[in-house]
Formats: sequence, C-alpha cells, structure tokens
Amino acid sequence: MVAGNPLLEIRDLVACPDTDGESEPILRGLNLTVGAGEVHAIMGPNGSGKSTLGSTLLGSPEYRVESGDIVVKGESVLEDGPDERARRGMFLAFQYPQEIPGVSVIQFLRQALSARKGIDLSVLELRLSAMEWMKRLGMDSSFVDRYLNEGFSGGEKKRNEVMQMAILEPEIAILDETDSGLDIDALRIVASGIREVRADRPEMGVVLITHYQRLLDEVAPDHVHIMMGGRIVASGGMDLVERLESDGYESFRSLT
Ligand SMILES: Nc1ncnc2c1ncn2[C@@H]1O[C@H](COP(=O)(O)OP(=O)(O)OP(=O)(O)O)[C@@H](O)[C@H]1O
Ligand SMILES: [Mg+2]
Repeated sequence: MVAGNPLLEIRDLVACPDTDGESEPILRGLNLTVGAGEVHAIMGPNGSGKSTLGSTLLGSPEYRVESGDIVVKGESVLEDGPDERARRGMFLAFQYPQEIPGVSVIQFLRQALSARKGIDLSVLELRLSAMEWMKRLGMDSSFVDRYLNEGFSGGEKKRNEVMQMAILEPEIAILDETDSGLDIDALRIVASGIREVRADRPEMGVVLITHYQRLLDEVAPDHVHIMMGGRIVASGGMDLVERLESDGYESFRSLT
C-alpha cells in the first residue's frame, strides 16, 4: 500500500447494465472513500443501485463502467477482472454462486484461498483454521463437509459468508445484506462476525450495505451514507439512521 492512500476510492462512478443496446446508467456519479479500519454503511431505498455498486466494485461483467474510477490502495482496478480484484484484497459476500453442486464448504474455501493469496494450504491446515473460526462463530464443526449452500438456512449462509471473510483475509470487505428475511439471530451473526474479524485485522475496511437499523446499531459504523438514484446524497453518522427511521427516505429526496 502506498502510504497515505485510502484503501478504496470510488470517484465519480457512472455504470450501466452491459447490454447490447442503449441503457441508462444505474450508478450516476458516485463518490466514496474508505480508509483503513473504517466501517461505512450504505442505506438506500429499493432500486437505488446498492447491489449494482457491489457488483460493479467486484468487476461483474453484468455492468459497464462508463466513466469515473475505482481505486484500491492508489491503483485503479477498472481493467482487472474479479479474480485480480480478489487478489488485491477485495471481497464481496454473495459474489459466488448460491449453490455449487458437489463442492463442500472446505473445498470451496481452499480454492478461493488459493485464488486470493496464491498459497495452497493443506486440507488439514485449512480444516484447523476453519474449525477455529466455526467455534468463534458458534457453528457446528460438521458444517465444513456439507455442500456449499445446499439446504443452508439463512443463518447458516450468513455464518458461511463470515467464515469466508475471516479466512480469505480481505483488505476491503463489501457486504450486501440483501436478504429481507434475516431474523435477529442472523443479524447478530453478521454483526458479531464483523467484530471478530475486525478484532483480528483492525486495518480491514468494510462497506456494509443494509436496510437494517438493527444491524447498524450492533456494528456501529464510522460513517453512514444514504444512496438514492445511483449516488450518495447524504453522509454522516448514526444520526442519519435515526433521521431515516423517523422521516423515511422522503426527507432525503430533495437532495437527489
Ligand atoms: N443487469 C441489469 N439490467 C437492467 N436493469 C438492472 C440491472 N441490474 C440492476 N438493474 C436495475 O437497476 C436498479 C438498481 O438495482 P439494484 O439491485 O442495484 O438496487 P438495490 O439498491 O440493491 O435495491 P434493493 O434494496 O432492493 O436490494 C433497479 O431498478 C434494477 O432493476
Ligand atoms: Mg440490493
């Protein structure tokens, strides 16, 4: 990392679906800077472009960047594919297919770790490391041998994502909590998972996309941003969440 550079800088990002024909931008001049160790929460109404932002950050072929830049530790990653971005330390929960038939949790971790760090841990080493995290996350140890996401409950999926984040040791983690059906326990898993991983790696930056005030109460982000119409329209602290709770998005609409 070049000293003084933030972990992640999103500069005036404009992106649209990568279809053959003309398409309107979904991200319309988005700016965001995440420094080392910072947790940024992004909230926004349905359809404001939050998941598009996550996918675009990770280089999904589904979206085309028209202008602006995504800069990680001082270097643009726009020309990099998803694998290269992962190698640079970017991690997106939900970036992977929901179910991979015949691939177990541990096999998948091994593959992902090899892609991320270029190191091949033995299955035994990885198993020990996974076991330790499972204990911290309150998971049953038989979990690692199950097939990835096959029949996982919402809470188990969350734990698995947190474990992936813990083991892949990203420098910048992007978590898109799109699930609407998370119960309080699953929210707590995400919150305590973020805390555990940060305790291990205080330098990690987090972008947490969520609709849940509950989750933000538990995670206590350093910055809160309101996204509407493909850009950040307001930034502040937890006071923004309270304002949102009492007045809804309507009170931010004049800013778009
Ligand atoms: N590949 C695509 N092709 C066409 N339109 C798209 C595509 N991806 C997203 N959109 C549209 O862009 C807008 C933003 O979608 P996105 O999923 O980013 O919203 P979101 O903020 O994550 O919403 P939610 O809170 O419901 O998860 C929506 O109107 C969506 O229909
Ligand atoms: Mg979404």
